[in-house]
Amino acid sequence: MEESLLSTPSGTRDLLPDEVARWQFVEKEARQLFARYSFREIRTPIFESTELFARGIGVDTDIVGKEMYTFLDQSGKSLTLRPENTAPVVRAYAQHAMYRGAGVTKLFYIGPMFRHEKKQKGRWRQFSQIGVEVLGSDHPAIEAEVIEMILYFLETLKIRCQLLVNSVGCNQCRPHYVDLLRHELSKQIPRLCEDCRRRMEANPLRVLDCKVESCQPVIDQLPTITDHLCEECRSHFDRFKGYLEALGIPYRIVPRLVRGLDYYVRTAFEIVSDELGSQNALVGGGRYDGLSEILGGPPAKGFGFAMGVDRLVMLLPEELSPRWTWKPDIFLAYLGEAAFDRAFAIARTLRHDGWSSHLEFDGGSLKSQLRLANRLQARHVLIIGEEELAKGKYQLKRLDDSRQWDFNLDELRDYLKSQAAQQ
Ligand code: HAM
Repeated sequence: MEESLLSTPSGTRDLLPDEVARWQFVEKEARQLFARYSFREIRTPIFESTELFARGIGVDTDIVGKEMYTFLDQSGKSLTLRPENTAPVVRAYAQHAMYRGAGVTKLFYIGPMFRHEKKQKGRWRQFSQIGVEVLGSDHPAIEAEVIEMILYFLETLKIRCQLLVNSVGCNQCRPHYVDLLRHELSKQIPRLCEDCRRRMEANPLRVLDCKVESCQPVIDQLPTITDHLCEECRSHFDRFKGYLEALGIPYRIVPRLVRGLDYYVRTAFEIVSDELGSQNALVGGGRYDGLSEILGGPPAKGFGFAMGVDRLVMLLPEELSPRWTWKPDIFLAYLGEAAFDRAFAIARTLRHDGWSSHLEFDGGSLKSQLRLANRLQARHVLIIGEEELAKGKYQLKRLDDSRQWDFNLDELRDYLKSQAAQQ
């Protein structure tokens, strides 16, 4: 069926002002907290070359294989709306030689991502992520520090969740494990779903991600990657867990957790919430040493995460959900056309002075304007009628205690300034 022009494309939605207030609150909290951990914001383009994602995320992943919004531009170049932002941030890090700065580079981003996924509760085709990337070190303490930051962030938002961790090994140990997995899976082909039969050949790790019911007993019997780590990966994982423990952070090791993107090495993690339903992952992240090299950049270590803002806002408790509470400092009520012209000019002056001012263009009677002023919970009403116009003095009424004054414009501005000083 053809979609109506008056509805958003499937998997997308409008955020109306009340909802935007909740988003802005969450984004402001994140910006303030991340700054305390010395993260700085980066903004990369909404679209990038298709090749960046194909190489970065991996051609055998669901994201690259099935979910990207890809198009040719006027010059025939293949571009893709970003399905995630780690590859673009690593691209920017290499492009601008950010590694030349002192120490590690700590970046965060907030913005929309695009994936053509099946619609489901908590799953959108345009969704927003708040993410961070730490580039330039493979110290396991960075991983614990970043995880501590998000958990603290979620705690301040009163969101209950659980940390799941794993190590997915490295280019030394993982190929052996993948061979073993393929070997084990080849004995179980009749019990695998069609997708897993394909995955078994192309990318057996992805089988561990499979959600199909009938595959679960097979997956439960497979060897785990944590039993097949090389010495370096094992030690890295032990140190990482040690730092989590030192910070008093509870975690659960989930050997099946391999994440849906190919760039991960060693530490991988997710933060999940039971309250989200089947799409229970609120945060996903991990280490991606080597991604820069895959993209043709210099050697660079990296670790980061992204958090789904759509899902986060779903979990925000009511007491932390701000409403759009715009209350004008001054409501200008007028009577007649000449008074309207004066009110129109005064509103501008007051706004430039820093006062929120409301003027109703088709105001109707004075009575109906005053009713609206009350409904908007204006702090003051400035009444401009014929008499006021002639005298150049306007009646200012404070709505909370009904006190009123006759002021010319300069007196009004002085009064408002003195009110601000008292606050
Ligand atoms: P990801 O696990 O694909 O990781 O996505 C991270 C989070 O984005 C998910 O946990 C979820 O909350 C949200 N998300 C993903 N897809 C959707 C969707 N269709 N609708 C709503 N929310 C969604 C990444 O994107 C990696 N770049 C994370 C990362 C950063 N790894 C290292 N650095």
